[in-house]
Amino acid sequence: MAERTVVTTQVAILGAGPAGLMLSHLLAKSGIASTVVEIRSREEISETVRAGILEHGTVNMLVDSGVSDRVLRDGDRHDGIELRLKGESHRIDFKELVGESVWLYPQTDVFRDLAARREADGGDIRYSVTDTRLHDIEGKPKVWFTGADGVDYELRADFIAGADGSRSQCRLQIPEAHRKWYFHKYPFAWFGILAEAPRSSDELIYANSENGFALISQRTPTVQRMYFQCDPDENVAEWNDDRIWETFRSRVNGNGFTLKEGPVIDKMVLKFRSFVHTPMRHGNLFLAGDAAHTVPPTGAKGLNLAIHDVKMLFEGLDSYYSRGSTELLDSYSSRALDRVWKAQQFSYWMTSMLHTPAYADGFSRARQLGELNSVVSSRHGQAYLAEAYTGWPGAA
Ligand code: PHB
Repeated sequence: MAERTVVTTQVAILGAGPAGLMLSHLLAKSGIASTVVEIRSREEISETVRAGILEHGTVNMLVDSGVSDRVLRDGDRHDGIELRLKGESHRIDFKELVGESVWLYPQTDVFRDLAARREADGGDIRYSVTDTRLHDIEGKPKVWFTGADGVDYELRADFIAGADGSRSQCRLQIPEAHRKWYFHKYPFAWFGILAEAPRSSDELIYANSENGFALISQRTPTVQRMYFQCDPDENVAEWNDDRIWETFRSRVNGNGFTLKEGPVIDKMVLKFRSFVHTPMRHGNLFLAGDAAHTVPPTGAKGLNLAIHDVKMLFEGLDSYYSRGSTELLDSYSSRALDRVWKAQQFSYWMTSMLHTPAYADGFSRARQLGELNSVVSSRHGQAYLAEAYTGWPGAA
């Protein structure tokens, strides 16, 4: 077999999504070398439409660590959301309840900012690689891959960070006897669209209705992002614009509110699942972001959790390289999982409170309205939602 070209680094990072690039950026600022390998092309990542809400801690990390302050200029600060039930709007005022806000700033922009920063700083990011294989994760780890240049490489590192997304190869390297997977499936999905239309509302609207859930979000003054609850097996080809708008109207219009409509320029079905891989470390392999956990999109927690993992993993690696201490690396998994399970609970709760399964009986529907009412009619209920949505206090 042909020789492999050896590349040596300190931390090998699999995945150049926001988690992988943010880790590489933080490490570089501390003088720690990393090489990032990614099977997708840069264009493919930057063109994938993903969610758009950043917790204040995520925004602070982007700005304070010097990635970019574009989020503060081009993003929109939202001080609350609207919950709509029985056709009536109830505002959850984050700022007033917990003193915090979130930012509407799409994940694709977070990726573009990080990729541009890493490039400007001379980071070693290898897109479009193939045939990645991990070796010796319990000892001195190596990653084999074929570069976009066709050359076979052996990347040698002290540690591997598996930030390779929900279809992670990294987590499959952990022997079954050393891992436990937690799964939850939901009987619905989201039909997501991008539409050329003006904003219908200044804030996001989470609407529960007899006809199912809908979420009115935004992208730009002229392009809006919206979702409605659908069957997981829904076929987008069967939905023309009229049928889509009719569905939105039946879920959000009423009591003086009318959605602003326009041509649908993109449509997709997003499947829901909750997933956690434990522990988030095996030997010298550390998992971060979607590689270790997935949440349904209702609470907009996915990207924020990934960034939080990375902050903790960075602190562990930094204290190892600067002081020789393994303490924070050893506690990484349990510290990260504390927040992961809080976010799992929040995302599950928001999802089950707002969506109505097709088979819901009279009791379940009335109980659900009781639950929603106990949130919107109580300051404590509202504050629980506001604190979780904007990001729990503490790191990131
Ligand atoms: C989005 O804008 O894509 C978005 C916003 C809030 C969510 C999920 C998705 O809860």
